[in-house]
Amino acid sequence: MNQTRMPLFEKLKRHADQNPVSFHVPGHKYGELITGDIERYYKQLLRLDATEINGLDDLHSPEGIIKEAEELLTQLYGVKKSFFLVNGSTVGNLAMIMAAVKENDTVLVQRNCHKSILNGINLVKATPIFLGPVFDEDWGIAGGVSVSMVKQAIELYPHAKALILTYPNYYGMVNNLDEIIKIAHCHHIPVLIDEAHGAHFIGGEYFPPSAVQLNADIVIQSAHKTLPAMTMGAYLHFNSDFLSLVNVSSFLQILQSSSPSYPIMASLDIARNYLATFTARDAKSLQQKITEFRNGLQQLKEIRVLTYKGGIGDPLKVTIQSTTSLSGYDLQKLFESKGIYTEMADPSNVVFVFPLLKYEMAYPIREIITRLQSALKSAAYYEIGKEKVSCGKPGISRLALNADEQAKIEKVNIPIEEAIGKICAQLIVPYPPGIPLLFPGEIIREEAIEQIQLLKASGARFQGDEILQDGKLIIYST
Ligand SMILES: Cc1ncc(COP(=O)(O)O)c(C=O)c1O
Repeated sequence: MNQTRMPLFEKLKRHADQNPVSFHVPGHKYGELITGDIERYYKQLLRLDATEINGLDDLHSPEGIIKEAEELLTQLYGVKKSFFLVNGSTVGNLAMIMAAVKENDTVLVQRNCHKSILNGINLVKATPIFLGPVFDEDWGIAGGVSVSMVKQAIELYPHAKALILTYPNYYGMVNNLDEIIKIAHCHHIPVLIDEAHGAHFIGGEYFPPSAVQLNADIVIQSAHKTLPAMTMGAYLHFNSDFLSLVNVSSFLQILQSSSPSYPIMASLDIARNYLATFTARDAKSLQQKITEFRNGLQQLKEIRVLTYKGGIGDPLKVTIQSTTSLSGYDLQKLFESKGIYTEMADPSNVVFVFPLLKYEMAYPIREIITRLQSALKSAAYYEIGKEKVSCGKPGISRLALNADEQAKIEKVNIPIEEAIGKICAQLIVPYPPGIPLLFPGEIIREEAIEQIQLLKASGARFQGDEILQDGKLIIYST
């Protein structure tokens, strides 16, 4: 197949160039109704915002250009079948879980997963068994699960219907997924991977291996996070001998809009083409630019640039840690004051997502470093030895109340300090990175309360913030 082609984008472009007269939805009529100030930003985009008219195919039953574009994607990733997703990895995670797991099935799931994974498990009413991740004391964050944790979980729950993991984590850390997948497959347990942050991993040896290359059964990727795709554009790759492809496809039809966005789908076609044409020369030049960026950051005395254990992780993620009284959130705000917007901050760190630049693309690294430097110059801070954050050692745990039991019990608000040992009735998700700290139905551990207090003090935001702002938690009144 010819990976330099972009069948979906090319057809949309030809269609737009004919200046089509639209007597169909969407109502903006390829931008005709857009005038005035908004025109400059909005109208161009709408030229590609078509719908399922003759010749433009249908995502839910592809036979033409969308089929061709998905086939190119399938070939590039070397799997049985790849799908375009128009509602992010969120919809991919929901569909893969719904396709693989039924009510009351036991599933092994990495504790620090994205909320869409938990929502998927709740929707099917499966029983989650949480596997605690390895905590990196230096970075102050949780990574992936260990091989021994997976072995132990499979010994305890040999009839689990799926192992659901996140790889890499938000900070680009990877773990020994190769061995984990082999172990799970030996026990006939399919492995479902949320690879939201790793769509570019097949781009050569400069990157860690993709879960797709390690034989995971289903892999979900937010193409929009690291490839040049539009927000919400994502991929689902199916490569399983255990699971049903038909199931996956039907759940995608149930969960995704019947009017999927053509600009998003075209951007997925463009992103696939971009990655397919990413050469070893591009990778080498990218490596030089990232090294230059990291070296520049290393000159700033208020921060240190973190490195991956064993040197293996996603090079696009560059994480810096504060070495002063400034928190990660403070640093992020300072950088924003100079027009530099980072991906996220936590109490100590700030994460930059470096662009997947190709050889010929210039990037103003020197200028960016100068701006960061001047942002830090304006800041007031004092030197401190950083307190190491700990998240305890979460092992293998399950909910004290399942979803059905939870539905029958009343909820009450109590002060956070009194909540230790009670059963939590709300999902506590600090943002970013959107990883649950407490699940509904879970016994509230002391470490969880400490984490909440610490994150609150350092300015983290929580989803459903109001109750926490008042110093309270919702619990089940058992
Ligand atoms: C690990 C992980 N999985 C899934 C998602 C959801 O991805 P999307 O925004 O593409 O729906 C995110 C979003 O940040 C994420 O970090």
